[in-house]
Amino acid sequence: MFKIGNVEIKNRICVAPMAGITDLPYRIILKEMGAALMTTELVSAKGIYYNNPGNATIMATDKKEAPIALQLFGADPIIMSMVANKVKEQYDIIDINMGCPVLKVVRNGEGSALMKDEALAARIVETMVRVVNDKPITCKMRIGFDNKHINAVSFAKALESAGASAITVHGRTKTELYSGDVHKDVIKDVKSAVKIPVIANGNIWTIDDAKTMLDETGADAIAIGRAIKGNPWFVKECIEYIENGKRIERPTKDEIKKMMYRHVNDAISFKGEFTAISELRHHIAWYTHGMQNSTKFRLALNSAATKEAITKLIDEL
Ligand SMILES: Cc1cc2nc3c(=O)[nH]c(=O)nc-3n(C[C@H](O)[C@H](O)[C@H](O)COP(=O)(O)O)c2cc1C
Repeated sequence: MFKIGNVEIKNRICVAPMAGITDLPYRIILKEMGAALMTTELVSAKGIYYNNPGNATIMATDKKEAPIALQLFGADPIIMSMVANKVKEQYDIIDINMGCPVLKVVRNGEGSALMKDEALAARIVETMVRVVNDKPITCKMRIGFDNKHINAVSFAKALESAGASAITVHGRTKTELYSGDVHKDVIKDVKSAVKIPVIANGNIWTIDDAKTMLDETGADAIAIGRAIKGNPWFVKECIEYIENGKRIERPTKDEIKKMMYRHVNDAISFKGEFTAISELRHHIAWYTHGMQNSTKFRLALNSAATKEAITKLIDEL
């Protein structure tokens, strides 16, 4: 157990935010697996400021998933602070995205572009801490913008001095996107350089990866990203292994199918059939990873346009 500001984090396994994946219905499933801290998909502070109607779904939370962080992206300290202060009630933590590599975000000076401007990043944190004074402000960053500018240590120190309550470090540069090795040595240097909790992220695919990440970086916790696609059980497996030294059984095919039905139902009740289906096609295909006939199943899934059609395909698995 450790604390981010006044928020208790019950174990060392957190889930990394993933746009289009870690929405509310899936987070509730991940919470049931024991995830200690989750974060909403990234949402534009400006979008909230200008009342973009699409944000309501992304910003929705449920008491069951607490503690929950809202992740904002933006580069304007005033807008970020005003927005965070306005919506803070339903969240335990406000997280700032300083790692997104998507072009339309970076070219506005937001997301990972902030890694190139330590002073601005620190000013955003400092202003948000001052305005949102009763909720911890955290940041999710990379190790630098590119391999010529690996500034994670000084960047993290600047965020800490500005009042950040924790940082998650994805151990890659913006230019490395999501591939290649994770630079655990840099995460370790960040952990040694700051006193606030550090959550290590990147390439945790197995329970042994989870342990190695914690052992080699000394981080307070890990955040798991892509490995939970179609595999919420991975959270539980990591918790059992890290906290209790136990390796637990993989779910059976029946358990996986049961989860698929539940995920389809929950997502459709939350978003409506039309919106949910296209995201569900991905989720449902991921659940079948490694199953026999999964290639055929996935092909058929591409043209399944209704809940009934998806359910029938799962029946036949
Ligand atoms: C599809 C996708 C969406 C993502 N969306 C976000 C996001 O909204 N906010 C964020 O901070 N990181 C986002 N990330 C980055 C992840 O949180 C994580 O840092 C990255 O995937 C590395 O962890 P992993 O190797 O365990 O997947 C996203 C990654 C992927 C693959």
